[in-house]
Amino acid sequence: MTAFEPRVFSGVQPTGNLHLGNYLGAITRFVALQDEYPCVYCVVDMHAITVWQEPTELTNAIRSVTAAFIAAGIDPDKHVIFNQSQVHQHAELAWVFNCVARMGWLNRMTQFKEKAGKDKENASVGLFAYPTLMAADILAYKATHVPVGEDQKQHLELTRNIAQKFNHDFAGRIAELGHGEEYFPVTEPIIQGPATRVMSLRDGSKKMSKSDASDYSRINLTDDRDTIATKIRKAKTDPEPLPSEAKGLEGRAEADNLVGIYAALSEKSRDAVLAEFGGAPFATFKPALAELAVEKLAPMNGEMRRLLADPGHLDAVLARGADQAAEIAAPVIDGVRDIVGFVSSRRS
Ligand code: TYM
Repeated sequence: MTAFEPRVFSGVQPTGNLHLGNYLGAITRFVALQDEYPCVYCVVDMHAITVWQEPTELTNAIRSVTAAFIAAGIDPDKHVIFNQSQVHQHAELAWVFNCVARMGWLNRMTQFKEKAGKDKENASVGLFAYPTLMAADILAYKATHVPVGEDQKQHLELTRNIAQKFNHDFAGRIAELGHGEEYFPVTEPIIQGPATRVMSLRDGSKKMSKSDASDYSRINLTDDRDTIATKIRKAKTDPEPLPSEAKGLEGRAEADNLVGIYAALSEKSRDAVLAEFGGAPFATFKPALAELAVEKLAPMNGEMRRLLADPGHLDAVLARGADQAAEIAAPVIDGVRDIVGFVSSRRS
């Protein structure tokens, strides 16, 4: 087995408002991994346009995700923050992967089925090929670890399959060109913590999502304190008091979700939260949760606003990040060209 230098890569789409699910399931994990690994964090604007985006809103959303990364605590002086479309190697590698991945693999992707809905014929080709671009994002950096929420698990499985098929199909060339046994790592997903799948506040069977029609289903990172408190007060629950152990949350999706959110925000386990709140009614728990959410999110909200007031600075962060990202990705893609047999001009 080839040994790969550890590197973290992950991406967030600039579509609509970021919410508590993105924050707890992904962005807080990105922050936590910074001390352990070199990290590359990407605003995936090319993924965003797989469904229609109003151009001016897209520009703002790219800056807004960039601001959220920085406000949450990702340090752009130590790690790479950039937007996907500025680094052409993503699109280039995605095309090669379109020729590695099989139709059958993509046909099984549940996210495409959900997003395309009933009118599959009218979905963009990009939406169907979305996961091969995601594999290219990750493998252009030979990333070994990818922190994501639970909903991305199947896409990461596909990324692993693409890496393995590429390594297998071109094994002879890879060895001949001196790359060892494998050219791409088989990436490990990092799906960890108490909030890998934050659910809607209105329906415990649906995940919290940017596209839910009801704004009361989610807490946006831009919500002010009154809005956060109102949304939590109105969150759907059941009439029972909280159990004293996590086991007692089984079959109580809404209660489990709120306890999970509290656990993630306070960096405790569900059991530790229930040791404190076991037996309490929601009338006691919800205000405590609202207070905690406001306490954790308000500073970030303020910092995001401050950063967004200076778009020139955010654009400069992205431009510098794109240069750093390209420096890592360019030799990886040059290697792919050689392996595949393209005649390369070495001008990347
Ligand atoms: P996106 O933009 O939908 O979501 C960004 C991250 O937030 C996580 N997430 C959640 N986690 C917990 N509970 C939720 N309700 C919730 N909703 C979203 C997602 O799992 C994700 O980690 N395809 C990706 C973007 C992407 C990417 C990549 C990720 C493109 N290329 C390469 C990793 C590596 C997406 O749509 O994320």
